[in-house]
Amino acid sequence: MNTLYYGDCLTVIRDKMQPKSVDLVYLDPPFNSKRDYNNIYKDHTGRPLPDQVEAYTDTWVLDAVRMRTIRKMPQLLREHAIDGHDADFLARFLSGLVNVQADMAVYLSYMTERLLWIKWVMKPTASIYLHCDPAASHYLKIVMDVLFGRRNFQNEFIWYYSGGGASKKRWARKHDILLFYTKSKKWQFNVDAVRAPHKWDKGQLRADGSERDYAKGKIPDDVWQHHSLLPWSSEWLDFITQKPLALLERVIKASSSPGDVVLDPFCGCATTVEASNKLGRHWIGIDITIHAIRRVARRRLFERMGLTEGEDYVIDGVPKNWEGAFELWKQDHYQFQKWCVEKVDGFVNVKKTADDGIDGRIYFDMPGEKIFQSMALEVKGGENVRINDLRSLNAVLQFENIQMAGLITLHEPSERQLKNFKQTLAMAGDIEIDGKVYPRRQLLTVNEIINGAKFNMPSPAGHTGTGYEGDLFNEPPI
Ligand SMILES: C[S@@+](CC[C@H](N)C(=O)[O-])C[C@H]1O[C@@H](n2cnc3c(N)ncnc32)[C@H](O)[C@@H]1O
Repeated sequence: MNTLYYGDCLTVIRDKMQPKSVDLVYLDPPFNSKRDYNNIYKDHTGRPLPDQVEAYTDTWVLDAVRMRTIRKMPQLLREHAIDGHDADFLARFLSGLVNVQADMAVYLSYMTERLLWIKWVMKPTASIYLHCDPAASHYLKIVMDVLFGRRNFQNEFIWYYSGGGASKKRWARKHDILLFYTKSKKWQFNVDAVRAPHKWDKGQLRADGSERDYAKGKIPDDVWQHHSLLPWSSEWLDFITQKPLALLERVIKASSSPGDVVLDPFCGCATTVEASNKLGRHWIGIDITIHAIRRVARRRLFERMGLTEGEDYVIDGVPKNWEGAFELWKQDHYQFQKWCVEKVDGFVNVKKTADDGIDGRIYFDMPGEKIFQSMALEVKGGENVRINDLRSLNAVLQFENIQMAGLITLHEPSERQLKNFKQTLAMAGDIEIDGKVYPRRQLLTVNEIINGAKFNMPSPAGHTGTGYEGDLFNEPPI
């Protein structure tokens, strides 16, 4: 079944997929750009909302865990049957790089670990396209040479685009690189599916005077010119690193056939998924950001592709019940918080914002006020919330003069606890907005938000949007 997985592609592939089951892999991982990618959202009138949703981070820092991975590289490579001089070279290269360019060593070791599992899931006849840019392409090629074998390198495919800004201090940086490798000496390349038009259609004659047939088109070369995706494009989903469908269609047509399985282990807003589906391929998309899977990719599948969850595809790893939410909390506290906040129509606080302890906000319009008002959200994971947690939260909110706050707790309180919690929250009193009265402090449990409960407050900003770019709430029903 076509599947969208939420999770780290390493663990998803290792724990949920079968070896040698994929015909084509396209991956567009972080590039070591040293940036964090945020999506900026607007309300239905086009006003930008104050918070940005952090889509993912692309900054790499050496810590004890990464250092251990780099030290364990020889063993890791051996476990995946990569040994000999090449493996020895890669392991030494990465540990040497730590002293020169630690962030690059961290990034490459992260990619190596994942590429090993990606290779494991590929059929012997499968191809892989690794999308990168000049920030790390030279290093990634070394890694790919070792993992897939220099002889299985097929192309360095250049995607040359226009648009966007340029520095006046150097040549404009206007290309990405797709490293095309195969798993073995046997692979498919459907040249007729991707032939390019000749620059002329009449002209050169053969030696015998006959005319060459130009109608068929020429064998495409490894530089492809196509504009990058701009925000006014009909396919733009407001996902900052989104790639054009045409690029994916080209790759998929050339290196797979109808009925084949295409995997995108870093699928973002699911461009590969749409291109695969359109071309009659089966597909698997994986992404580690809950926002990418739950909001953006799902929206593409529902709105643009008209697919139905459960019938045409399944989503794996996004909580559908309390046990799933608990599992997510155990795996990744931050993604759990994001999931809770988005579930109640809130915006996640980007890690670096000033409000410590506030995990997100739900914005609403206050009549006569130019700026948005908001309800602050606090998410409590863990297995237990005590009355003292609520008292100290209340004190902090009062101190910071936060008018409205919502608490989401994973812990399912007993009836007696719930009564005490509600009493404590009620002590903060009510607030009157536009003639209606709302409690200043409110509590919802994860079980309640799974069943669709929302906080009692004015209609959240963005709620009434009708599909404009960046409308977070135009979301398919679960
Ligand atoms: C450059 S974007 C991909 C964009 C995608 N090609 C598109 O057209 O939307 C990289 C994606 O990789 C995801 N990612 C980063 N590390 C990951 C991991 N270990 N496993 C799965 N996804 C990951 C990020 O969340 C991000 O959405």
